[in-house]
Amino acid sequence: MKPVTVMTIFGTRPEAIKMAPLALELAKRPNIHALCCVTAQHREMLDSVLNIFQLKPDYDLNIMQPRQTLSTITSKCLLGMDDVLEQAKPDLVLVHGDTSTTFAGALAAFYHQIPVGHVEAGLRTYDKWSPFPEEMNRKMVGAIADLHFCPTVSNRENLARENITKGVYLTGNTVIDALQTTVVPHFHFSQPILNQLDYIQKKVILVTCHRRENYGAPMEQIMTALRRIADDFSDVELVYPVHLSPVVQEVAHKYLDNHPRIHLIAPLAVDEMHNLMSRCYLVMTDSGGLQEEAPALGKPVLVLRRETERPEAVEAGTVKLAGVEETIIYEMAKELLTNETAYHRMAHAVNPYGDGTACIRIADAIEHYFGLREHPPVPFGT
Ligand code: UD1
Ligand code: UDP
Repeated sequence: MKPVTVMTIFGTRPEAIKMAPLALELAKRPNIHALCCVTAQHREMLDSVLNIFQLKPDYDLNIMQPRQTLSTITSKCLLGMDDVLEQAKPDLVLVHGDTSTTFAGALAAFYHQIPVGHVEAGLRTYDKWSPFPEEMNRKMVGAIADLHFCPTVSNRENLARENITKGVYLTGNTVIDALQTTVVPHFHFSQPILNQLDYIQKKVILVTCHRRENYGAPMEQIMTALRRIADDFSDVELVYPVHLSPVVQEVAHKYLDNHPRIHLIAPLAVDEMHNLMSRCYLVMTDSGGLQEEAPALGKPVLVLRRETERPEAVEAGTVKLAGVEETIIYEMAKELLTNETAYHRMAHAVNPYGDGTACIRIADAIEHYFGLREHPPVPFGT
């Protein structure tokens, strides 16, 4: 039987981290012809992930520009995808999550009447403006997609509320698959400061912050709170790999430079990030991916956002919403730095997001969809 052609499309760091293990799984299957197209909405941060997973894209749209706008990203992806889809004629396109690449990739496939599979489907805040523009991106992709790969039961319920019940698979999140390949006991970091830190005597706080809806006053409040935390707690070492966005770079350096225990460093390769996370005391972040990874590694997370589309770890007690106001962020961090009972209540490993076999389930579901496999995969968690 002729193999089916399945094209993964992604463009940013988090999509790459979560799609690379799937692209590699698809490439192993004899009845699937796996193609990979990157938009390079991110350049350096994408290439770092491709390098770690040793994944070579078949197509690279190379669209990134400094300070790119949402319209530029979407239109460049859409036009670039036209030629790629025309040439490759895949039987199925897979997109991931909620970025502009995700939306444009799904829309381009729809224009070419190619079925779409949505990986990490069904996450919702029900607030159009937060996260912005991601909430609308994932809703629009949900409306276009034929196959929906939901990480959790609550994601599947969100889709059911929108009357999306066909082609829905409960798979777990592929990020847990990625995590299982990266964390090792005696990891040597490429940035010397990360080898020098005393992870036992000191409290290493790992910070990331990049979301568009936090640009401006919220990000300034976050940075002010972080500086106060470092000032007031002499046992804290704050490590912040700063996103390459010039907006983020400016504000991070403005508020956090020139402090002996604040380390602003370049974005980390994903294996470095996972190993740092597994050694740190606490994670403070507005990232989606870190909210999924840290609980699996038993690390408490304070989320620097007003809401989250990932309620599972909040319910399990390892993640708390800290919001974007300086005083509240400071007080919540202080509690975890000074109250051991409060800290240990949060610091336990939970895995609501996956069991490390999401990619196998997704590949099995695709084979089932094309009639190449008799049974659909057994849902995650059953
Ligand atoms: C994008 C996604 C967001 C995701 C985030 C992950 C959209 C609208 N946003 O936001 O959902 O959470 O990626 O990090 O799709 N830059 C570089 N090199 C890089 C990457 C970025 O220089 O490797 C700089 C460029 O100046 C670029 C800017 O960062 O213009 C912003 O990148 P962009 O993809 O537009 O937005 P993110 O905030 O990264
Ligand atoms: N990450 C990384 N290096 C960094 C910061 C993050 O490898 O310096 C990884 C992180 O472990 C997670 C993903 O990037 O897997 C999250 O990406 P990001 O925070 O940029 O996007 P989001 O998840 O918020 O969409």
